[in-house]
Amino acid sequence: MYNDYPHHISDQPEAKIMSESPHSYIHGWSDRESIRLHDQASGLGFLLHEGTRYLPGSTVLEAGCGVGAQTILLAGNSPHAQFVSVDISPDSLAKAQDRVSGAGYTNVTFRQADICSLPFPAETFDHVFVCFTLEHIPDPLVALDTLRKVLRPGGTITVIEGDHGSAIFYPGTPAAHHVINCLVTLQRQAGGNALIGRELEHLLADSGFIDIHISPRQTYASQNIPRSSEAVKKIFIAMIEGVREQAIEGGLADPDAWDRGIRDLYRTTEQNGMFCYTFFKATGRKTV
Ligand SMILES: C[S@@+](CC[C@H](N)C(=O)[O-])C[C@H]1O[C@@H](n2cnc3c(N)ncnc32)[C@H](O)[C@@H]1O
Repeated sequence: MYNDYPHHISDQPEAKIMSESPHSYIHGWSDRESIRLHDQASGLGFLLHEGTRYLPGSTVLEAGCGVGAQTILLAGNSPHAQFVSVDISPDSLAKAQDRVSGAGYTNVTFRQADICSLPFPAETFDHVFVCFTLEHIPDPLVALDTLRKVLRPGGTITVIEGDHGSAIFYPGTPAAHHVINCLVTLQRQAGGNALIGRELEHLLADSGFIDIHISPRQTYASQNIPRSSEAVKKIFIAMIEGVREQAIEGGLADPDAWDRGIRDLYRTTEQNGMFCYTFFKATGRKTV
């Protein structure tokens, strides 16, 4: 993801974290979710960040940085690029800032912003990076249009999203599929799309990006692959478990059915079980 046109943002207002309350989103901003996001980024970094390196001096907008889990990887992989990382949640931004400065990186500034209405002039950034955020936006085309505007002509966008419909596993019980479907339904009710991975190609095309490339990145976990089953527990099952109360309160599952589904998901991480999931990494370019 190298380019030859460094573009600086030194004329931007000082990075600032405001204290307004953001809207809610399906996974919430709990400490438990922060841990899950860090586990996710560190466990999948080798798979998802492969191929994403930015030239010294280039400017990169990270849209939806959360608690900085991907930011750490971005800043470390491209230590001489300048990152501006935004999120709608001031609490997450504060955690991200602590984490990134604690790790010794000085090439990131943070700012609270809604990615559907960004506070930057047109053509500010050389690159945009979005990970696991478009899936929470009610109209992703509005977000992509906003992101395209702040990208300089010829600049690139990288979008990484999952797709829960890609999860195949053994044993594959109806109860296990049901708890996953509960999250898909809840996320849709909240305005998001947990099946967005399959849509990245058309979304980038509909937003006017060119040179679109989709790279499906598959994970396979079983007890024969060291640490892989632990990652399924910490990243995927923990994410499903996080919406237990919402699923029960919303009438999508009764407590027994829910607990059975979760127990069955854990069985996929035990002897002779397997769990397979595909992430989608999309890149595109803004027309010159
Ligand atoms: C699942 S987290 C992903 C965070 C980070 N990209 C990662 O992979 O660890 C989704 C993030 O999107 C943020 N978010 C949701 N809607 C947003 C919006 N409209 N503008 C900016 N951030 C938003 C949430 O606050 C949350 O931090």
